[in-house]
Amino acid sequence: MSVITKNDGAVAVTGASGYIGSRIVEDLLNKGYDVHACVRDVSNGKKVDHLIELGKTAPDSSLELFEGDLFEKGSYDKAFFDCVAVIHAGATVGFNRETPQEVYDGCFTENEHVVESIKKSGSVKRFVFTSSFAAVAHPRPEGYVFDEKDWCGDNVEAYKGAWTEENISKNRDIAYAMAKANTEKMIYKIAESDGNFEAISINPLHVVGPLMTENHNQFFSWQFFVWQLLQGNNFGVLDGKQLRGDRMLWNLVDVRDVAKAHVLAAESKNATNGSRYILSATDTSGEMFTWQLQTKLQELFPEIKEIGGEGMKNGKPEKSTYDSPRSYCLKAINELGLSTYSIEDTLKQTGESYRRMGLL
Ligand SMILES: NC(=O)c1ccc[n+]([C@@H]2O[C@H](COP(=O)([O-])OP(=O)(O)OC[C@H]3O[C@@H](n4cnc5c(N)ncnc54)[C@H](OP(=O)(O)O)[C@@H]3O)[C@@H](O)[C@H]2O)c1
Repeated sequence: MSVITKNDGAVAVTGASGYIGSRIVEDLLNKGYDVHACVRDVSNGKKVDHLIELGKTAPDSSLELFEGDLFEKGSYDKAFFDCVAVIHAGATVGFNRETPQEVYDGCFTENEHVVESIKKSGSVKRFVFTSSFAAVAHPRPEGYVFDEKDWCGDNVEAYKGAWTEENISKNRDIAYAMAKANTEKMIYKIAESDGNFEAISINPLHVVGPLMTENHNQFFSWQFFVWQLLQGNNFGVLDGKQLRGDRMLWNLVDVRDVAKAHVLAAESKNATNGSRYILSATDTSGEMFTWQLQTKLQELFPEIKEIGGEGMKNGKPEKSTYDSPRSYCLKAINELGLSTYSIEDTLKQTGESYRRMGLL
Protein backbone atom coordinates (compact mmCIF):
# COMPACT_ATOMS: atom_id res chain seq x y z
CA MET A 1 0.00 0.00 0.00
CA SER A 2 1.08 3.48 -0.83
CA VAL A 3 1.44 6.21 1.83
CA ILE A 4 -0.37 8.60 -0.50
CA THR A 5 -2.79 7.87 -3.31
CA LYS A 6 -4.39 9.98 -6.03
CA ASN A 7 -7.65 9.92 -4.05
CA ASP A 8 -6.09 11.61 -0.98
CA GLY A 9 -5.55 15.02 -2.57
CA ALA A 10 -3.42 16.87 -5.09
CA VAL A 11 0.38 16.90 -5.20
CA ALA A 12 2.14 20.28 -5.44
CA VAL A 13 5.37 20.64 -7.41
CA THR A 14 7.67 23.65 -7.06
CA GLY A 15 9.96 24.41 -10.01
CA ALA A 16 7.31 22.77 -12.19
CA SER A 17 8.57 24.58 -15.30
CA GLY A 18 12.13 23.26 -14.83
CA TYR A 19 13.91 20.33 -16.47
CA ILE A 20 13.31 17.92 -13.58
CA GLY A 21 10.09 19.55 -12.30
CA SER A 22 8.33 19.21 -15.68
CA ARG A 23 9.03 15.47 -15.76
CA ILE A 24 7.71 15.14 -12.20
CA VAL A 25 4.49 16.85 -13.30
CA GLU A 26 4.29 14.47 -16.29
CA ASP A 27 4.80 11.38 -14.11
CA LEU A 28 2.20 12.49 -11.56
CA LEU A 29 -0.38 13.21 -14.27
CA ASN A 30 0.30 9.83 -15.90
CA LYS A 31 -0.36 8.20 -12.54
CA GLY A 32 -3.70 9.99 -12.22
CA TYR A 33 -2.76 12.60 -9.60
CA ASP A 34 -4.18 16.11 -9.66
CA VAL A 35 -1.18 18.43 -9.81
CA HIS A 36 -0.65 21.93 -8.44
CA ALA A 37 2.19 23.11 -10.66
CA CYS A 38 4.03 26.04 -9.04
CA VAL A 39 5.78 28.46 -11.40
CA ARG A 40 6.99 32.03 -11.06
CA ASP A 41 4.93 33.48 -13.90
CA VAL A 42 1.81 31.72 -15.22
CA SER A 43 1.74 34.03 -18.26
CA ASN A 44 5.22 33.07 -19.48
CA GLY A 45 4.34 30.74 -22.36
CA LYS A 46 7.95 29.68 -22.91
CA LYS A 47 7.96 28.17 -19.43
CA VAL A 48 4.39 26.93 -18.98
CA ASP A 49 2.90 26.03 -22.39
CA HIS A 50 4.32 22.48 -22.26
CA LEU A 51 2.75 22.01 -18.80
CA ILE A 52 -0.65 23.17 -20.03
CA GLU A 53 -0.34 20.67 -22.92
CA LEU A 54 0.50 17.87 -20.45
CA GLY A 55 -2.59 18.77 -18.46
CA LYS A 56 -4.81 18.59 -21.55
CA THR A 57 -3.60 15.12 -22.53
CA ALA A 58 -3.93 13.51 -19.09
CA PRO A 59 -7.31 11.74 -19.09
CA ASP A 60 -7.75 10.96 -15.37
CA SER A 61 -6.12 13.94 -13.68
CA SER A 62 -6.02 17.72 -13.66
CA LEU A 63 -3.33 20.34 -13.73
CA GLU A 64 -3.65 23.73 -12.08
CA LEU A 65 -0.96 26.41 -12.31
CA PHE A 66 -0.09 28.46 -9.22
CA GLU A 67 2.28 31.40 -8.96
CA GLY A 68 4.91 31.37 -6.22
CA ASP A 69 8.38 32.69 -5.49
CA LEU A 70 10.71 30.78 -3.21
CA PHE A 71 12.03 34.00 -1.72
CA GLU A 72 8.58 35.18 -0.64
CA LYS A 73 7.19 34.03 2.68
CA GLY A 74 3.73 32.52 2.35
CA SER A 75 4.05 32.31 -1.42
CA TYR A 76 2.97 28.65 -1.51
CA ASP A 77 0.14 28.74 1.07
CA LYS A 78 -2.53 28.67 -1.63
CA ALA A 79 -0.81 26.08 -3.81
CA PHE A 80 -0.20 23.62 -0.96
CA PHE A 81 -3.68 23.95 0.59
CA ASP A 82 -5.35 20.52 0.76
CA CYS A 83 -2.39 18.82 -0.94
CA VAL A 84 -1.25 15.39 0.21
CA ALA A 85 2.38 15.82 -0.85
CA VAL A 86 4.82 18.52 -1.92
CA ILE A 87 7.70 17.84 -4.29
CA HIS A 88 10.18 20.70 -4.10
CA ALA A 89 12.20 20.71 -7.33
CA GLY A 90 12.52 24.49 -7.64
CA ALA A 91 15.77 26.22 -6.79
CA THR A 92 17.50 29.48 -7.50
CA VAL A 93 20.75 27.92 -8.61
CA GLY A 94 21.59 29.78 -11.83
CA PHE A 95 25.19 29.33 -12.93
CA ASN A 96 27.42 32.02 -11.46
CA ARG A 97 24.57 34.45 -10.92
CA GLU A 98 24.92 34.42 -7.13
CA THR A 99 27.85 34.63 -4.71
CA PRO A 100 28.69 31.38 -2.85
CA GLN A 101 27.22 32.80 0.36
CA GLU A 102 23.99 33.71 -1.49
CA VAL A 103 23.79 30.16 -2.87
CA TYR A 104 24.17 28.77 0.66
CA ASP A 105 21.80 31.16 2.44
CA GLY A 106 19.24 31.03 -0.39
CA CYS A 107 18.76 27.29 -0.06
CA PHE A 108 17.74 27.64 3.62
CA THR A 109 15.48 30.64 3.03
CA GLU A 110 13.71 28.82 0.19
CA ASN A 111 13.22 25.66 2.21
CA GLU A 112 12.06 27.51 5.30
CA HIS A 113 9.35 29.15 3.19
CA VAL A 114 8.33 25.83 1.64
CA VAL A 115 8.20 24.11 5.04
CA GLU A 116 6.14 26.96 6.58
CA SER A 117 3.54 26.57 3.82
CA ILE A 118 3.56 22.78 4.29
CA LYS A 119 2.85 23.19 8.01
CA LYS A 120 0.02 25.63 7.30
CA SER A 121 -1.58 23.20 4.84
CA GLY A 122 -2.30 20.69 7.62
CA SER A 123 -2.78 18.07 4.90
CA VAL A 124 0.70 17.34 3.53
CA LYS A 125 2.03 13.91 4.56
CA ARG A 126 5.16 13.77 2.41
CA PHE A 127 7.73 16.42 1.47
CA VAL A 128 10.20 15.32 -1.21
CA PHE A 129 13.18 17.64 -1.59
CA THR A 130 15.42 17.66 -4.68
CA SER A 131 18.81 17.69 -3.04
CA SER A 132 21.92 16.72 -5.04
CA PHE A 133 24.68 14.16 -5.22
CA ALA A 134 26.84 17.14 -4.21
CA ALA A 135 25.43 16.61 -0.70
CA VAL A 136 26.91 13.10 -0.78
CA ALA A 137 30.32 13.40 -2.50
CA HIS A 138 33.61 14.23 -0.80
CA PRO A 139 37.28 13.43 -1.44
CA ARG A 140 37.91 9.69 -1.62
CA PRO A 141 40.41 7.46 -3.43
CA GLU A 142 39.76 6.72 -7.10
CA GLY A 143 37.08 4.10 -7.70
CA TYR A 144 35.38 4.62 -4.31
CA VAL A 145 31.67 3.83 -4.63
CA PHE A 146 29.49 6.42 -2.87
CA ASP A 147 26.17 5.50 -1.31
CA GLU A 148 23.46 7.20 0.75
CA LYS A 149 25.46 6.93 3.99
CA ASP A 150 28.02 9.37 2.58
CA TRP A 151 27.79 13.08 3.23
CA CYS A 152 29.81 15.94 1.78
CA GLY A 153 32.02 17.17 4.58
CA ASP A 154 32.87 13.55 5.58
CA ASN A 155 36.48 12.50 5.77
CA VAL A 156 37.97 16.00 6.03
CA GLU A 157 40.60 14.81 8.51
CA ALA A 158 42.06 12.24 6.12
CA TYR A 159 42.15 14.54 3.13
CA LYS A 160 42.56 18.00 4.68
CA GLY A 161 39.52 18.54 2.46
CA ALA A 162 38.02 21.80 1.37
CA TRP A 163 34.51 20.62 2.24
CA THR A 164 34.23 22.53 5.46
CA GLU A 165 31.78 25.18 6.61
CA GLU A 166 34.60 27.76 6.79
CA ASN A 167 35.03 27.53 3.02
CA ILE A 168 31.38 28.11 2.15
CA SER A 169 31.78 31.80 1.35
CA LYS A 170 34.87 31.15 -0.81
CA ASN A 171 33.74 28.48 -3.24
CA ARG A 172 30.42 28.04 -5.08
CA ASP A 173 30.67 24.24 -5.33
CA ILE A 174 31.25 23.93 -1.61
CA ALA A 175 28.45 26.40 -0.88
CA TYR A 176 26.05 24.42 -3.08
CA ALA A 177 27.00 21.04 -1.59
CA MET A 178 26.92 22.19 2.01
CA ALA A 179 23.65 24.05 1.40
CA LYS A 180 21.97 20.91 0.08
CA ALA A 181 23.41 18.68 2.84
CA ASN A 182 22.59 21.04 5.70
CA THR A 183 19.13 21.75 4.26
CA GLU A 184 18.45 18.01 4.19
CA LYS A 185 19.43 17.75 7.86
CA MET A 186 17.27 20.79 8.69
CA ILE A 187 14.12 19.48 7.01
CA TYR A 188 14.42 16.00 8.57
CA LYS A 189 14.66 17.64 11.98
CA ILE A 190 11.69 19.96 11.40
CA ALA A 191 9.57 17.10 10.05
CA GLU A 192 10.43 14.92 13.01
CA SER A 193 9.40 17.53 15.55
CA ASP A 194 6.29 18.47 13.57
CA GLY A 195 5.13 14.86 13.33
CA ASN A 196 2.53 15.47 10.61
CA PHE A 197 4.75 15.03 7.57
CA GLU A 198 7.90 13.15 6.57
CA ALA A 199 10.80 14.67 4.60
CA ILE A 200 12.68 12.59 2.02
CA SER A 201 15.47 13.63 -0.36
CA ILE A 202 16.46 12.73 -3.88
CA ASN A 203 20.17 13.21 -4.70
CA PRO A 204 20.67 13.31 -8.48
CA LEU A 205 24.06 13.09 -10.18
CA HIS A 206 24.59 14.03 -13.86
CA VAL A 207 21.02 14.36 -15.13
CA VAL A 208 20.44 14.10 -18.90
CA GLY A 209 17.56 12.85 -21.03
CA PRO A 210 14.94 14.37 -23.33
CA LEU A 211 14.18 18.07 -22.94
CA MET A 212 10.55 19.19 -23.17
CA THR A 213 11.19 22.81 -24.18
CA GLU A 214 14.04 25.04 -25.29
CA ASN A 215 13.98 26.60 -21.82
CA HIS A 216 15.34 23.29 -20.48
CA ASN A 217 18.57 23.91 -22.35
CA GLN A 218 19.95 25.83 -19.39
CA PHE A 219 23.49 27.11 -19.77
CA PHE A 220 26.03 24.89 -17.94
CA SER A 221 23.55 22.07 -17.33
CA TRP A 222 24.65 18.49 -18.16
CA GLN A 223 22.17 18.31 -21.03
CA PHE A 224 23.71 21.53 -22.38
CA PHE A 225 27.16 19.88 -22.36
CA VAL A 226 25.85 16.77 -24.16
CA TRP A 227 24.43 19.17 -26.76
CA GLN A 228 27.89 20.74 -27.07
CA LEU A 229 29.40 17.30 -27.75
CA LEU A 230 26.72 16.55 -30.34
CA GLN A 231 27.68 19.77 -32.13
CA GLY A 232 31.30 18.65 -32.33
CA ASN A 233 32.54 20.91 -29.56
CA ASN A 234 34.80 19.68 -26.82
CA PHE A 235 32.36 20.11 -24.00
CA GLY A 236 34.38 22.57 -21.97
CA VAL A 237 34.64 25.02 -24.85
CA LEU A 238 31.94 27.40 -26.08
CA ASP A 239 32.57 30.03 -28.76
CA GLY A 240 36.30 29.41 -28.37
CA LYS A 241 36.14 30.06 -24.63
CA GLN A 242 37.14 27.35 -22.14
CA LEU A 243 34.20 26.84 -19.76
CA ARG A 244 35.58 23.93 -17.79
CA GLY A 245 37.94 20.97 -18.21
CA ASP A 246 36.92 18.45 -20.88
CA ARG A 247 37.90 15.38 -18.93
CA MET A 248 35.58 13.92 -16.32
CA LEU A 249 33.85 10.71 -15.36
CA TRP A 250 30.21 11.14 -16.36
CA ASN A 251 27.81 9.32 -14.07
CA LEU A 252 24.58 9.61 -16.01
CA VAL A 253 20.95 9.33 -14.94
CA ASP A 254 17.82 9.91 -17.01
CA VAL A 255 15.68 12.93 -16.08
CA ARG A 256 12.59 10.70 -16.41
CA ASP A 257 14.02 8.28 -13.83
CA VAL A 258 14.87 11.17 -11.50
CA ALA A 259 11.25 12.32 -11.78
CA LYS A 260 9.83 8.84 -11.20
CA ALA A 261 11.97 8.46 -8.08
CA HIS A 262 10.51 11.68 -6.62
CA VAL A 263 6.97 10.40 -7.04
CA LEU A 264 7.82 6.91 -5.74
CA ALA A 265 9.50 8.50 -2.71
CA ALA A 266 6.26 10.38 -1.98
CA GLU A 267 4.30 7.14 -2.24
CA SER A 268 6.55 4.42 -0.83
CA LYS A 269 6.07 2.84 2.57
CA ASN A 270 9.74 1.85 2.54
CA ALA A 271 10.78 5.50 2.67
CA THR A 272 10.58 7.30 6.02
CA ASN A 273 11.58 10.66 7.41
CA GLY A 274 15.31 11.18 6.62
CA SER A 275 15.45 8.65 3.75
CA ARG A 276 17.67 9.79 0.90
CA TYR A 277 18.05 8.28 -2.55
CA ILE A 278 20.97 8.78 -4.91
CA LEU A 279 19.83 9.00 -8.54
CA SER A 280 22.90 8.10 -10.55
CA ALA A 281 23.89 5.44 -13.11
CA THR A 282 22.01 2.14 -12.90
CA ASP A 283 25.28 0.24 -13.38
CA THR A 284 28.68 0.79 -14.98
CA SER A 285 27.02 1.22 -18.41
CA GLY A 286 26.03 4.74 -17.28
CA GLU A 287 29.53 5.66 -16.10
CA MET A 288 31.76 6.94 -18.87
CA PHE A 289 34.87 9.03 -19.22
CA THR A 290 34.38 11.82 -21.74
CA TRP A 291 36.12 9.85 -24.52
CA GLN A 292 33.84 6.87 -23.85
CA LEU A 293 30.77 9.11 -23.96
CA GLN A 294 32.05 10.48 -27.26
CA THR A 295 32.34 6.92 -28.66
CA LYS A 296 28.83 6.05 -27.43
CA LEU A 297 27.33 9.20 -28.97
CA GLN A 298 29.10 8.43 -32.25
CA GLU A 299 27.51 4.94 -32.22
CA LEU A 300 24.05 6.38 -31.52
CA PHE A 301 24.32 9.27 -33.99
CA PRO A 302 26.34 7.85 -36.93
CA GLU A 303 24.97 10.62 -39.19
CA ILE A 304 26.82 13.29 -37.16
CA LYS A 305 30.31 13.60 -38.62
CA GLU A 306 32.14 14.89 -35.62
CA ILE A 307 31.26 14.47 -31.95
CA GLY A 308 33.21 16.47 -29.38
CA GLY A 309 35.23 14.79 -26.66
CA GLU A 310 38.66 15.06 -25.08
CA GLY A 311 42.23 15.13 -26.39
CA MET A 312 43.15 11.73 -27.90
CA LYS A 313 46.40 10.23 -29.25
CA ASN A 314 46.58 6.89 -31.14
CA GLY A 315 43.02 6.06 -30.09
CA LYS A 316 43.74 6.60 -26.41
CA PRO A 317 43.07 9.59 -24.16
CA GLU A 318 46.06 11.95 -24.00
CA LYS A 319 45.67 12.39 -20.26
CA SER A 320 44.24 10.19 -17.54
CA THR A 321 41.12 11.29 -15.64
CA TYR A 322 40.44 10.91 -11.92
CA ASP A 323 38.13 7.91 -11.54
CA SER A 324 35.27 9.48 -9.58
CA PRO A 325 32.35 9.74 -8.85
CA ARG A 326 31.25 6.11 -8.92
CA SER A 327 27.75 5.47 -7.55
CA TYR A 328 24.61 3.49 -8.50
CA CYS A 329 20.93 4.13 -7.87
CA LEU A 330 20.46 0.72 -6.26
CA LYS A 331 18.63 1.96 -3.17
CA ALA A 332 16.00 3.65 -5.34
CA ILE A 333 15.65 0.46 -7.39
CA ASN A 334 15.44 -1.85 -4.36
CA GLU A 335 13.42 0.28 -1.92
CA LEU A 336 11.26 2.38 -4.22
CA GLY A 337 10.84 -0.12 -7.06
CA LEU A 338 12.34 2.23 -9.65
CA SER A 339 12.96 0.77 -13.11
CA THR A 340 15.40 2.72 -15.24
CA TYR A 341 16.00 3.59 -18.87
CA SER A 342 19.04 2.17 -20.65
CA ILE A 343 21.89 4.61 -21.20
CA GLU A 344 21.43 4.21 -24.96
CA ASP A 345 17.79 5.28 -24.74
CA THR A 346 18.68 8.21 -22.50
CA LEU A 347 21.40 9.56 -24.77
CA LYS A 348 19.47 8.91 -27.99
CA GLN A 349 16.36 10.67 -26.64
CA THR A 350 18.46 13.61 -25.41
CA GLY A 351 19.85 14.15 -28.91
CA GLU A 352 16.49 13.58 -30.58
CA SER A 353 14.85 16.19 -28.34
CA TYR A 354 17.47 18.77 -29.43
CA ARG A 355 16.76 17.79 -33.02
CA ARG A 356 12.98 18.23 -32.57
CA MET A 357 13.60 21.72 -31.18
CA GLY A 358 15.71 22.56 -34.24
CA LEU A 359 18.87 22.94 -32.16
CA LEU A 360 20.75 20.07 -33.80
N1 LIG B 1 19.97 18.92 -13.38
C1 LIG B 1 20.88 18.28 -12.65
O1 LIG B 1 21.83 17.65 -13.17
C2 LIG B 1 20.75 18.28 -11.15
C3 LIG B 1 21.64 17.49 -10.41
C4 LIG B 1 21.53 17.52 -9.03
C5 LIG B 1 20.57 18.30 -8.41
N2 LIG B 1 19.73 19.07 -9.16
C6 LIG B 1 18.74 19.89 -8.46
O2 LIG B 1 17.48 19.70 -9.07
C7 LIG B 1 16.66 20.86 -8.90
C8 LIG B 1 16.04 21.23 -10.23
O3 LIG B 1 17.06 21.40 -11.19
P1 LIG B 1 16.77 21.50 -12.75
O4 LIG B 1 17.91 20.86 -13.44
O5 LIG B 1 15.39 21.07 -13.05
O6 LIG B 1 16.90 23.07 -12.94
P2 LIG B 1 16.02 24.11 -13.80
O7 LIG B 1 15.59 23.49 -15.07
O8 LIG B 1 16.84 25.34 -13.88
O9 LIG B 1 14.75 24.37 -12.89
C9 LIG B 1 14.78 25.21 -11.80
C10 LIG B 1 13.37 25.59 -11.44
O10 LIG B 1 13.39 26.45 -10.28
C11 LIG B 1 12.53 27.55 -10.51
N3 LIG B 1 12.97 28.75 -9.78
C12 LIG B 1 14.12 29.44 -9.91
N4 LIG B 1 14.11 30.49 -9.05
C13 LIG B 1 12.92 30.47 -8.41
C14 LIG B 1 12.31 31.29 -7.44
N5 LIG B 1 12.94 32.36 -6.92
N6 LIG B 1 11.07 30.98 -7.00
C15 LIG B 1 10.42 29.88 -7.50
N7 LIG B 1 10.96 29.07 -8.44
C16 LIG B 1 12.18 29.35 -8.88
C17 LIG B 1 12.61 27.77 -12.02
O11 LIG B 1 11.45 28.49 -12.37
P3 LIG B 1 11.40 29.53 -13.59
O12 LIG B 1 10.95 28.71 -14.73
O13 LIG B 1 10.43 30.55 -13.15
O14 LIG B 1 12.77 30.08 -13.80
C18 LIG B 1 12.65 26.36 -12.54
O15 LIG B 1 11.35 25.84 -12.66
C19 LIG B 1 17.58 21.92 -8.28
O16 LIG B 1 17.37 21.93 -6.90
C20 LIG B 1 18.98 21.39 -8.56
O17 LIG B 1 19.90 21.82 -7.58
C21 LIG B 1 19.80 19.07 -10.51
